[in-house]
Order: sequence, then structure tokens, then C-alpha cells
Amino acid sequence: MMGALSPQPCAPEPYGTISRLTSIAEERDRVATSMKTHSRVRTWLEIREPLERQLEPLGRAAMEAIGLSEGHRVLDVGCGVGGTPLALSRRVGPRGQVIGLDVLPDAIDVLRGNDGNPENVSFICGDAQTYGFAAGSFDAVFSRFGVMFFDDATEAFRNLLKALRPGGRLGFVSWRDLSDNELDELPLRAASPHLPPGLVNSTAASAWFSFSKAETIRRVLDGAGFSDVEITSRDEGIGSGSLQDMVAVCSRVGALGAILRDHPHLTRKAVRALEDALRERDGPNGPELMAAVWIVTAKAP
Ligand SMILES: C[S@@+](CC[C@H](N)C(=O)[O-])C[C@H]1O[C@@H](n2cnc3c(N)ncnc32)[C@H](O)[C@@H]1O
Repeated sequence: MMGALSPQPCAPEPYGTISRLTSIAEERDRVATSMKTHSRVRTWLEIREPLERQLEPLGRAAMEAIGLSEGHRVLDVGCGVGGTPLALSRRVGPRGQVIGLDVLPDAIDVLRGNDGNPENVSFICGDAQTYGFAAGSFDAVFSRFGVMFFDDATEAFRNLLKALRPGGRLGFVSWRDLSDNELDELPLRAASPHLPPGLVNSTAASAWFSFSKAETIRRVLDGAGFSDVEITSRDEGIGSGSLQDMVAVCSRVGALGAILRDHPHLTRKAVRALEDALRERDGPNGPELMAAVWIVTAKAP
């Protein structure tokens, strides 16, 4: 099985030497991208546990929908630094195998460095759209919010289909519309008096919501060659365990977090407004907001 995938070195070259002559503009873009990558992974690590508390039930719903069994080999697409590879490994047991794949070298380095990774879990740095998977090498392909960012989604899913054995299962969870997702919409609305309106309006069209329409998902999966496509809407109240943790997560990631990461000078007033809004929703386990997702399954013919 391991021969089926050749782990690519995750060369962390964030501020490394320039291997060819580049224009100043190209170089500035390269450094800016790598700094963004770094700060994104760093942000995830800083809020890893409360973020995991929010996302775990949604990923679990997709895992249950796939119907994994002991001994299955599973690919976790866009695993980030989340807890899904370990959760999958418990489901497939010691005879099974889980490969976490992510395009961010920093995320893969963190995961590989985790103490206590079970023997049946390994990680690969690569782009799911183009990675050279050995044909039929997986029983299942899973993703928790990692499949909405492809340049050409149909081509990417065609590549993932190739990785599945005949009859193998695909299962993922993706966001529905921003307007259905209180988890993103409430923080954005609360902070909006302190944000430029253009930024707020462009959020609904961002890549996170590229699979927000069921017909888009169906068109992509049918076009890629999957069969038995099932798309189920799920609404779930989720939280991070406390008011403070919820404020931390909602202001660092998601729709508001993305804006504040790019415009840190807006953070102070936005976070104060967010905290006021979330305090009104506080409860014994902290505030809970409704998440609206699609649970999607399909089969390799
Ligand atoms: C929203 S995060 C979700 C991370 C993780 N699945 C979780 O639930 O915590 C999306 C992840 O998908 C990864 N990703 C995006 N496009 C990718 C691609 N083409 N191939 C592999 N990973 C990709 C990103 O680097 C990021 O780690």
C-alpha cells in the first residue's frame, strides 16, 4: 500500500534562498504567500482544540455516512492539522490505513511531528487535484471541508475517483450558503459596523462556499464519473466549550477570521462587537451557533 503513494518531501522553504532570478514583484508575492501559509497554520495550532470541538461533529457525520469498516484504507483530503486522520484511524483499526493529504507543507510537518501518531496513519504533502495516486489504492476518500478549493473541481474529483477501488466510497462535508450558516453569519453581522462593506459582501462568494449549492456538487461528481451521489443537508448547533473559546475561534477562522487576518487593524473593535453578540447566546457549554452543511457521499462505479 505504501508503495502506492510516494511521500513527497515537504520542503519548508518559507524564506529560503531564491533558486532563480525573479522580479521583485514575483519575489514579494512568493514571500507574501509563504507568510500567509505560515500564519494560517500557526492560527490553526493556536486554536486547535476549540476549533476541533466545533468541527468534530460535522466530520463525524460524514465518516458515519461513508460506512467505514475495519481494515479499510482511507485518504483524508485536505486534512490540515485537524483531528480527522486520528478519528479515521480508530474507525479502520490497526489493520486499516489512513493517509492524510494536504497541500500545505507546514501542516504536514506539524502532523508528522505529533507524538503518538498511530502506526496506521501517515501524511503526504501534495495537491489532491494532480497527485499521482496509484489506481484503486483506497477503499474510501474522506474530507472535512478540504474539497472546496480546487481550481477545476471536476478534474480534481476525477483524480480522486482514480484513487478509489471499484465500489469504493467518497464522503465529505462542505458548507452550505453563508446566509444559512449562523456560525459565520452572526460573527460577520456583529462585526460589520467596523468592517468595510465591500469585504463583507465578497465573503459569500469566497471559495469556502463554492460547494454551497447541491446542484454544483452533483454536477461536479457526475461529471467526474461518480455514481450513487447522495447530498443531505444537516443543521447542527456547535460551539467551542466556552464564550472565550468561541470568540477566539470565530475571530481567527471562518468568514470573519479571514477578513481580520488580512486586516489586523480592524480586529480590536470587531472582536469587542463579536464578544457582545456571543455573550447573548452564552450557555452552560458556551455559545452555540447553527452550522449548515452538506453531507455528501458517492461511489466509484
Ligand atoms: C478548511 S481547511 C480544513 C482542514 C481539516 N480538514 C479540518 O477539518 O480541520 C482546508 C484544507 O484543505 C487543504 N487544501 C486545499 N486545497 C487542497 C488541495 N488541492 N490538495 C490538498 N489539500 C488542499 C488546505 O491546505 C487546508 O488545510
